[in-house]
Amino acid sequence: MATDPIEQLEQTLADINNYQISNLEELEAFRIKYLGSKNILKPLSGLIREIPNEKRRDFGQLLNKVKKAAQAKFNETKEALEDAVASNVESIDLTAPAEPIELGARHPVSLVMNQMIEIFERIGFVVAEDKEIEDDWHNFTALNTPPDHPARDMQDTYYLMNDPQRLLRTHTSSVQARTMTTSKPPIRIIAPGRVYRNETISARSHCQFHQVEGLFIGEDVSFADLRQTLYYFAKEMFGASKIRMRPSFFPFTEPSAEVDIWLGTDTEDNRRLTKNTGWLEILGCGMVDPAVLENCGIDTEKYSGFAFGMGVERIALAKYDINDIRLLFENDVRFLSQFKSAANF
Ligand code: PHE
Repeated sequence: MATDPIEQLEQTLADINNYQISNLEELEAFRIKYLGSKNILKPLSGLIREIPNEKRRDFGQLLNKVKKAAQAKFNETKEALEDAVASNVESIDLTAPAEPIELGARHPVSLVMNQMIEIFERIGFVVAEDKEIEDDWHNFTALNTPPDHPARDMQDTYYLMNDPQRLLRTHTSSVQARTMTTSKPPIRIIAPGRVYRNETISARSHCQFHQVEGLFIGEDVSFADLRQTLYYFAKEMFGASKIRMRPSFFPFTEPSAEVDIWLGTDTEDNRRLTKNTGWLEILGCGMVDPAVLENCGIDTEKYSGFAFGMGVERIALAKYDINDIRLLFENDVRFLSQFKSAANF
């Protein structure tokens, strides 16, 4: 750095002229450096004492020139920057069309689930939701499936590693157990939700899926009520003209049945869906076993009930002609955007 005070002033003048300022923050830094209360010109002006008398005049004039240059540069740049901001504002075209808003699509599982919910709500069922991490009692024991019961093998369960009493619910029947223990009949609920089973993932099965289960408990609830409710559902959901019930087994219902709906064989779709039989299996159901009611504190002298449960994915695959269940869990927008035009329940 130059030691001669006049040379130092000349250098400072050159610095000011070359100083690059491209925004208001940089302008403020410039102001603080050259015009602020602790600006670098102040110590320079003190150097006048080192100047021989005959040169003091020149030094004073140069110092003034540097100060003026700093002030002028500040004023000009400030104006220019403010102009630029103002002209930017003016360049917004208020008549330009807005960016299009990209609308999403409902997931096919939600579409089907919402349609099921809507159909059952019309006849007085209300939605009940509860935890996905359940305890053993609500998922199994209350539902007549004590430890070591062979029926536990029907549903391969994910247990929590640090707590064998906790598991990922294998069906939403756990919500039915919770509702029965906390409310009094009449009970009329549907329990939609996600469930988990330790199954090998393939085109036909997944370790997570959704169910809609129903429960109706009241006085004199009969098998005929169950059949009529499910017939109504099949008619509304699939336009089916008849249903058929085949004897089956579930630990929590007695008697139990598997329900098929009649789609017929007149279209290619229906032949494919029903493997040429005309019948599509859609759900399991039965009369709630009195032991289950008692486990949950419901008086079996007075009340009886029915329950049913179905998988949402199976129905979504059939309805939308999707050949691989994994597509429903991958969230690929190319797949999901195909459902934009589907009815928005
Ligand atoms: N919980 C059974 C399942 O997940 C379905 C079911 C519900 C069957 C209610 C009968 C009654 O497979």
